[in-house]
Amino acid sequence: MKRDVIIACDFGSVEECKGFLDKFKDLSRKPFLKIGMELFYAAGPEIVRELKKQGFKIFLDLKLHDIPNTVKKAMKVLSGLDVDMVNVHASGTKEMMKAALEGLTREDGSRPLLIAVTQLTSTSETAMREQLLIDNPMDETIAHYARNAMEAGLDGVVCSPLEASKVKEACGPQFLTVTPGIRFADSAKDDQVRFTTPAMARELGSDFIVVGRPITAAADPVAAYQKCVEEFCQDEELLYNPSTFI
Ligand code: C5P
Repeated sequence: MKRDVIIACDFGSVEECKGFLDKFKDLSRKPFLKIGMELFYAAGPEIVRELKKQGFKIFLDLKLHDIPNTVKKAMKVLSGLDVDMVNVHASGTKEMMKAALEGLTREDGSRPLLIAVTQLTSTSETAMREQLLIDNPMDETIAHYARNAMEAGLDGVVCSPLEASKVKEACGPQFLTVTPGIRFADSAKDDQVRFTTPAMARELGSDFIVVGRPITAAADPVAAYQKCVEEFCQDEELLYNPSTFI
């Protein structure tokens, strides 16, 4: 599995998303994109089909959480969209995660990567204890949920880069960590509290970094994307199509 940078396309409309992606049209390598609830609910499955047709890889971040049978059927539909990565909440239980996997698996045995959200980074340990009645520390809870996901057959989890090594320790090096909370050393932190640079995320063992505003709100989004790739992937091939240098 090749390490990659995923751009979080947190846009409220198709036009805004397409206007943004237009800037990347000269890159020889199409970026991996994350489509979340905002864009999916605004634009529907058609935007996914269209971006796939244009050659983008898609992480469809809809964080499913329902009874196993419903999740299985919903995953079958998402698998038909030919996306590359989807996710569920690990708190839906192993039964739900197994059902998700079944629904995702196509007749030829292929399927998108399936990862689990452990605890949202917006949930504090206090909220976990007082509202969810989970008394264990955050890192233990995350490692436990990650182990559940692995035992259910999933490919990895979404977590903070700061938790990646703990997850790898619990689940092994092959178990994927997909990590948001990325900021350049000199950029705005926005509302992210636990964040690292792309280079640090690589050192901490992230397999995929999910980057939103440091790219989408940059004065030059393509340069910001390339900086992420250079720092995080390091071994990447030339990003620009050589013809653009002639
Ligand atoms: O703009 P920014 O780089 O903060 O965007 C990060 C993306 O990752 C957003 O789409 C956000 O919803 C998502 N995310 C996150 N923390 C999590 C899970 C998802 O920031 N724990």
